[in-house]
Amino acid sequence: MRNDHIKTELPGPNARAMIARDAEVISPSYPRDYPFAMSHGRGSEVWDVDGNRFLDFAAGIAVCATGHAHPQVVAAVQQAAGKFLHISSDYWHEEMVGLGERIARVAPMGEPAMSFFCQSGTEAVEGALKLARYITRRPRFIGFLGGFHGRTMGSLSFTSSKYTQQLGFAPTMPGVTHVPYPNPYRPLFAGADQGKAVLDYIRMLFERSVPAAEVAAILVEPIQGEGGYLVPPDGFLAGLRKLCDEHGILLIFDEVQSGVGRTGKMFACEHWGVAPDIMTLAKGLGSGLPIGAVVAKKSLMEQWKRGAHGNTYGGNPIACAAANATLDLVVGGFKDNAANAGAHFMARLAELARDYPCIGEVRGKGLMIGMELIESDDAKTPARALCDAVITRTFHNGLLLLSCGVSTIRFMPPLNVRVEQIDEAIALLKASLDEALRGEA
Ligand SMILES: Cc1ncc(COP(=O)(O)O)c(C=O)c1O
Repeated sequence: MRNDHIKTELPGPNARAMIARDAEVISPSYPRDYPFAMSHGRGSEVWDVDGNRFLDFAAGIAVCATGHAHPQVVAAVQQAAGKFLHISSDYWHEEMVGLGERIARVAPMGEPAMSFFCQSGTEAVEGALKLARYITRRPRFIGFLGGFHGRTMGSLSFTSSKYTQQLGFAPTMPGVTHVPYPNPYRPLFAGADQGKAVLDYIRMLFERSVPAAEVAAILVEPIQGEGGYLVPPDGFLAGLRKLCDEHGILLIFDEVQSGVGRTGKMFACEHWGVAPDIMTLAKGLGSGLPIGAVVAKKSLMEQWKRGAHGNTYGGNPIACAAANATLDLVVGGFKDNAANAGAHFMARLAELARDYPCIGEVRGKGLMIGMELIESDDAKTPARALCDAVITRTFHNGLLLLSCGVSTIRFMPPLNVRVEQIDEAIALLKASLDEALRGEA
């Protein structure tokens, strides 16, 4: 079912020409799935360089929280750019302080919070790890299989959603022990409560091979993103909190993907009422301008001595202006839209799942939704090729999507997506599933 707005073959002639130029001068390492060459965007819609219009339910990998080119964000960026482009984090300015205040007002720590600004999620994770080591003076960490935390050497030591992220880069930072992330759909442990089983496993590690007194922090995504949009069982995050408190370990929530309203609450951890010691943000925070943040309990971050951690671009005025406008919009209603539109989306996908046995599970919170595809063999075998084919077909039909995990399609539209756009996406998805199941590539 071709969307009426797709007017050329895909990729069209202009996209083909751009992609050919790119192949000569741009690194081939970027994991690109299909040939979309962007011209411009508005809200949840984007146009390619051949004039074809698509619904964007990938949102720049969950970044465009306020949609493309939101007028309030664009105005804030223009205003800031007219004043000064850069001064460095060695000085003070209103946009940076204002952003710290806004984050402190919504931070889930349950006590005063401070922020350190950087440019990306991976740098936010690096900062969080450094803060944890600095405060505890302990060498070890616990991370989770399937986690994604970035690609610099520290964050990469935790990243494990695909082996290709690690292949060729060893050795990474020593001292990181991975444990399974609880997945009730694919239980690894006997018994019903996968969360409790993982907590018991960590306790066993503490007794046998990883002395708890040497562990600085546990780094975890409150909802696992790149690893498959996995929602942990109730009680799991609270259990981690308790474990950390018992052993003086810091709890770091990586909310780079799940934070800033994406799940219908400001931060995903609020679904379970569990407070981290340190939290990382990026992606949706700047609506597309590159900004990341390490947010920590004030009692912890104020222990960082002058010069212990710093950067050149952190708190860049334009990125901060975009983030201030974004937070105002998210707090002012987009978060609630994510909850309501997300509930509608989940209900529509659940309807679809009743008709398609290849849909193994639909899961998520707010507008962070995963749909896992399986083979029809009664063993819940991940349908990797089908997942890739559906994503190719949705592109040709006018809907941008991305995958995660092994065979999960993820839906992460802008937080201000409209219900009629979700319904349009469902129709395109259904047609694409039919085409992929018929073997159309
Ligand atoms: C949970 C999480 N942490 C960290 C990162 C790394 O962020 P960036 O790509 O901005 O470095 C990502 C990126 O997908 C992420 O999903």
